[in-house]
Amino acid sequence: MPEFFTVARVEEVPEGQARVYQVAGREIAVFNLRGDFHALDNICPHRGGPLGEGFISGSEVTCPWHAWSFDIKTGAYTFDPELAVQTFEVRIQNGEIQVAL
Ligand code: FES
Repeated sequence: MPEFFTVARVEEVPEGQARVYQVAGREIAVFNLRGDFHALDNICPHRGGPLGEGFISGSEVTCPWHAWSFDIKTGAYTFDPELAVQTFEVRIQNGEIQVAL
């Protein structure tokens, strides 16, 4: 059963941006897409680049190392959806972003 961890307050992740948090020993990138929060493993499945530092366009993030792009909502790699980065459930409670691991 996943457990929810509080990572930040909603105002700490501005719209159209991401922040990276250590959660239960993992690096998790939290994205704010027009007020909807999503969480991905921060580690790019290609060579380990930091997806939370990637370029965000629409609902995609492009890895800053070699430009692989992923759907922020599903984690799917744009050119091969079966190669996905792990996603995590997010909920907002009392203005806090909580991520389930
Ligand atoms: S490490 Fe992310 S595209 Fe290469």
